[in-house]
Formats: sequence, structure tokens, C-alpha cells
Amino acid sequence: MELLSDLDALRARRAEWRREGRRVALVPTMGALHAGHLSLVELARRHAERVVATVFVNPTQFNNPDDLARYPRTLERDAELLAGAGCDLLWAPAVEDIYPRGCASWVEVCGPPAEGLEGTYRPGHFRGVATVVGVLFNRVQPEVAVFGEKDAQQLAVVRRLVRDLGWEIEIVPGPTVREADGLAMSSRNVRLAPAERRAAAVLYRALDAARTAIAAGERSGDAVRRLLADVLAGEPLAQVEYAEVVDAASFRPLDELSGAVVLPLAVRIGTTRLIDNLPLQVSVALPAAAEPAATATHA
Ligand code: PAJ
Repeated sequence: MELLSDLDALRARRAEWRREGRRVALVPTMGALHAGHLSLVELARRHAERVVATVFVNPTQFNNPDDLARYPRTLERDAELLAGAGCDLLWAPAVEDIYPRGCASWVEVCGPPAEGLEGTYRPGHFRGVATVVGVLFNRVQPEVAVFGEKDAQQLAVVRRLVRDLGWEIEIVPGPTVREADGLAMSSRNVRLAPAERRAAAVLYRALDAARTAIAAGERSGDAVRRLLADVLAGEPLAQVEYAEVVDAASFRPLDELSGAVVLPLAVRIGTTRLIDNLPLQVSVALPAAAEPAATATHA
């Protein structure tokens, strides 16, 4: 695997692959890689002949400067992991390669699915994500780009962006990779103290309880919200920001579950903010079995 930071070197390699007729898949990341990121590289391999990963801790998507300062940076280890997962090229640009001095342009999805949830709790976050994704797409010029379902609202925003701006890039979603107790892998999990790490399993327990209720026929959005809130309330270290039931494309709250649905959660465990979600394809509930005919009352 090649590790490049220089933009001209990236351009040269990209031009060569174009001449050879090779399809390129992009896996954008902020580094501190784990098995979840590597699963996206493996998925990308199945969609293209060349896989480019990027590691760039994007300052414009951090609404909390402390979170940006504390974000783990492990480039050497990331490069080794990517090489092992079958990545062909790692581009790790400097801030000036992405945001030229004096740059004043933004890319923004100004409506659903960027509104609500992460859009509310992290103002400006999706504008930063959309802008960096736009620059990465323009620099790498991939045919395919892979994004994790772990960040389901981000995935919906990227799909919307690609559709609205007419970028001819296929967006491939990758399933969430979890630890043995169900906790979604995240670069931020390393910040959890041992007791917090144990408490963090409550997110998946809540999603699993909701999945079971929906499989048993529950279709009321409020009932599922209450169930999520009740399970999360059972963990004293968990402070819930949201536990929602939304449409997978618009991220608008649903009264009734049907079609492509996402149950997104944002929960603080101590000072660490965790997000997770469950994507579901919900069929229309079967009509309840006919009530037994009223028994005749005896005079
Ligand atoms: P980052 O958090 O590093 O995540 C990079 C990609 O890995 C995203 O598509 C994310 O959804 C995916 N991912 C994270 N955890 C995962 C898991 N447990 N299982 C499967 N996939 C997982 O998301 C970003 O970076 C940034 O916002 C970015 C898109 C790179 C723009 O800066």
C-alpha cells in the first residue's frame, strides 16, 4: 500500500488508474481505525479494483473544540491496518490540502435529512461533513464511496448530497461492526473508563429490546420511543440526548413504523458522547387476529 500526503502524487496515481480503466472506491475516515473501518475497506474491495482510504481529522465538523483536540491520532498504526485489509492507497492530507488558505465555500444540505438529531445537537456538523466529503470526492474522483451505517444520519446526508448535486458516485452502505456485548465500535470508545465501558452496552440492549418488540408486531412510534427510553433509564451512567424512531431517508420522526426505518440513539456516558442506531425494514403489521365472536349473554 502506498501512503501519500502530497496532492500532486495522488493526482498522478488517479490519472494512471483512469488510463488503465480501473474503478476506484473511496473509504473516507478520520483515522484511529478499528475493525468497523476495516470492514468498509473489505467491502470497497468487492466494488472496485482499487481502494483509496483517507485519514483526515476534519476540523470543520467538530462543534466542540475539546473533542477535536482529544481526537485520537494514530496514522502509523492506521497505515499498517489498512495495508492488511487490502487498501491500495492511503491519502492523509494536511489541512491546507483540503481547505486552501482563505477558502470561503461550504457544501450544505439545508433540510432533511440534515435537520434534527445530530443536526440539532451538533450545529454545523453536517455542513463540515458535506464540505469535506465534497472535497474528497473531487480530489479522489471515485466511482464508488463506502460509508458506515453506524453513522446513519451522515449516510442519509451523503446520499442526499450525491443526488442533489448530480455526482455520479455509487454510495455503498457498510453494516455496523460491534464488540461482543453489542457496543458499536467507535474511535471514541477508548475514552471510556472501565465502569463506563460496561455501562455503554445499554445502547445496544435498548436497540435489541426495540427490535424484539417490533418483531412481535409493535408499530407505534411512541411505544418504541418509550421502550428505548425505559431501557436507557435503567443505566445510571447514561444521559440520553435522543432515542428516536425516524424514516431512513428523511430522518423525520415517525408516528407509525413502516418501510425503511432507523432507530437512532445519542447517549452520553460520562464525558463521552456515543451514537448508535438500528436500521430496519418494517412490514405493515398483520391485522390482529379476529376477536372471538362475543359470547352470548345469558339472560
Ligand atoms: P469516522 O468516524 O472515522 O468513520 C469513518 C467511516 O467508518 C464512516 O463511514 C463511519 O460510519 C464508519 N464506521 C464507524 N464506526 C463503524 C462501525 N462500528 N462499523 C462500521 N462502520 C463504521 O464518519 C467519519 O469518520 C467522518 O464524518 C467522515 C465521513 C470521514 C468525514 O470527515
